[in-house]
Amino acid sequence: MDLFSYRNGELYAEDARVAAIAAEAGTPCFIYSRQTIEAHYDRLVAAFAPIDPLVCYSVKSCANLSVLRVLAERGAGMDVVSGGELFRAREAGVSAAKCVYAGVGKTDAEIVGAIRAGLGLFNCESEEEFENIARLAAAERATVRVALRINPDVDPKTHRYTSTGKKETKFGVDLERARRFFANYGRDPHARLEGLHLHIGSPIYTVDPYREAMAKTAALVEDLARDGFAIRSIDLGGGFGADYESAQSPALVDYAAAIIPIAKPLHDRGVRFILEPGRTIVANAGILVTKVLYTKTSGDKRFAICDTGMNALLRPSHYGSFHFIWPVAPGVALTPARRAPDPGLAGTVPQDVVGPLCETGDFLALDRALPDSIARGDLLAVFTAGAYGMSMASRYNSSPLPAEVLVSGATAEVVREREDYAALVEHERAPRALALEAAQEVHA
Ligand code: LLP
Repeated sequence: MDLFSYRNGELYAEDARVAAIAAEAGTPCFIYSRQTIEAHYDRLVAAFAPIDPLVCYSVKSCANLSVLRVLAERGAGMDVVSGGELFRAREAGVSAAKCVYAGVGKTDAEIVGAIRAGLGLFNCESEEEFENIARLAAAERATVRVALRINPDVDPKTHRYTSTGKKETKFGVDLERARRFFANYGRDPHARLEGLHLHIGSPIYTVDPYREAMAKTAALVEDLARDGFAIRSIDLGGGFGADYESAQSPALVDYAAAIIPIAKPLHDRGVRFILEPGRTIVANAGILVTKVLYTKTSGDKRFAICDTGMNALLRPSHYGSFHFIWPVAPGVALTPARRAPDPGLAGTVPQDVVGPLCETGDFLALDRALPDSIARGDLLAVFTAGAYGMSMASRYNSSPLPAEVLVSGATAEVVREREDYAALVEHERAPRALALEAAQEVHA
């Protein structure tokens, strides 16, 4: 569900005309709908109410400060995977105590920064990392809380790049190792190992992998209890789907119905649940608006050449992902009734929607049924672009990063200015000589 809809043949973001936003903010730009973000968050909280989870929004999915603030105002915590994301979360007004920090490669500086900030929970991914967190916590004379990321060996049936819960990924430790992990580290005085964390993949379009992972986790909790270790928190990660096509994803209540029967008895015994949703909150809450610079035919192929491509939205070219694309002002006859590879309207021809970059892989869609009438100067909306759009955008070909706009009702705010050329070179203007003391000593 989202609040991007066509009225009289023209696209609106909530009650604001997308064409009017693009005219003022320029293209390419991302447009986010505040009310969609809020509705998704509220729906998630309501669906999981029986286990009263702390919802830690996954900052990596869309890290704009204003988006983070919308969620912070609703009481969300944040799931971070780097010092940079923790910085953003705190800038948005979220206390570090409401942040959980995952990631296989935390640096010493990031760990110490998180300890000093008062991080809520480290989600630890390996034995060496645990030893490092414990060592740094001791040096800081601090006590930190740690959850072990387990790898329940469940197949989430998603793209192999974003499948994380199978044994052969770099994430977490497998279930057999988890008990040994607690036996070895479960009594550390500075790094209190008291939780379990899992995240099996993203996006996951069936509820069964969650049921399976939750069941394995519950069994592990019992095993650990027999070994003398009480689990205080379980972080189930994220991965819930979004509607790239109309009605593609299970509803949040469906995911909840699979998880809650197994989770509730643990909740009732005092286990605190955490969720780390990103995509399901922001994906449908954002569109990317791009302008058609040229149309062209090569051989039998039609192209719409746009002012952005894989630099603003990497997902189609990187994962082969589908994003519905349609003109911002197609007119009433060409208003799509559903988002699908072919929405079934007369007057369309297959076209590649490509960006300006010097790469054949720079595309937003291939062989897509789009109105024959698409012409130079038209605006196209790329839907379900709120998650992993701007957060994965690059400056390839020295393209300044796009603007971001947040809409609420009929009002719109630029929440990230479009970069200018000066921003492209600001860290390169003044080369700085390195001392290289060691090398000088060797040659002295
Ligand atoms: N928690 C952890 C530990 C994660 O690694 C992720 C996502 C999430 C939560 C949030 O997952 P979500 O609810 O957003 O599905 N760039 C890819 C997605 C990568 C997901 C990485 N981890 C894409 O564009 O599809």
